[in-house]
Amino acid sequence: MLRSTLLAAARSGGVKRMVEGNPLTRSVVDRFVPGTTPQDALAVIRELAGRGMSVTLDHLGEDTTDADQAADTVRAYRLMLSELDSAGLAGNAEVSVKLSAVGQQLPHDGNKIALDNARLICEAAADAGTTVTLDMEDHTTTDATLDVLSNLRVDFPWVGAVLQAYLHRTEQDCRDLAGAGSRVRLCKGAYSEPASVAFQAKHEVDRSYVRCLRTLMAGSGYPMVASHDPRMISIARQLATETGRAAEDYEFQMLYGIRPAEQRRLAAEGNRMRVYVAYGDEWYGYFMRRLAERPANLAFFARSLLSS
Ligand code: FDA
Repeated sequence: MLRSTLLAAARSGGVKRMVEGNPLTRSVVDRFVPGTTPQDALAVIRELAGRGMSVTLDHLGEDTTDADQAADTVRAYRLMLSELDSAGLAGNAEVSVKLSAVGQQLPHDGNKIALDNARLICEAAADAGTTVTLDMEDHTTTDATLDVLSNLRVDFPWVGAVLQAYLHRTEQDCRDLAGAGSRVRLCKGAYSEPASVAFQAKHEVDRSYVRCLRTLMAGSGYPMVASHDPRMISIARQLATETGRAAEDYEFQMLYGIRPAEQRRLAAEGNRMRVYVAYGDEWYGYFMRRLAERPANLAFFARSLLSS
């Protein structure tokens, strides 16, 4: 109930005004979103690289209904990619893109505009010598996003995508995307989805995650294990051993600000560890999904509102 209320607020902008301009609540946002500029992002990449970790960068913005705003987002990604290249950090960071930030929801030709815009970002990533991964949003966009993925992979075979274990369809999507050259970031899923398309109970989502992971690990692609869940991490390691994967044949991924000590521990043990770093001004939807994932985050946030 609380989770779905928060996820509804994430889409409506309800709590945004309470947080903006309030230094205490802002500090809670900063735990998950470490900055607004490319320079802030570069500083985080350098710090994490110093600890043996790589990064995927999300220039925040989603649900864009304005073509100019979508074009601004593309410019911001291209600028970030050229900054990465100039700073010699393209080997340490790639970018993650939400298609709704680059036009997928536009009323006319949204999917075509998102594909063209994503292509521009992929060209800049290719010039910089790094990769792009497509984030996955709510289930109404899954087919369109996978369609953009297959179009992009004709010219940029290294483009990856996120699959969400809470969707009933995802085991089949994992089978379809377990082939050579494919990069799949497997997560549990962060949106409010109906029972007709998604598992609702945590244990069902966890079981689906393991089934999906088994398929990806047994395949010949590159699995990206995006979870903070200690059980999923230990099962991933076990499956990697069983399927003969070396440490460089898959990677762990976590969100910036969540279980940072575990991130450092996994990297120090010689595992590939990539941190998803979101930056920019449009932090609201991303931040609300992080609150919805964990009641303790909400309590922390509520205390900062009350004490302000
Ligand atoms: P689970 O939610 O079961 O949590 C396991 C444990 O992790 C918790 O007990 C707690 O210790 C810790 N934890 C989890 N979330 C926390 C939080 N917010 N704050 C503090 N601790 C927390 N989703 C999506 O729908 N589309 C996408 O494109 C992506 N992309 C993505 C990229 C990467 C790199 C990651 C790691 C995650 C995503 N997600 C996502 C989010 C994902 O779907 C999911 O909501 C979160 O990762 C939480 O699920 P866990 O697997 O961590 O397990």
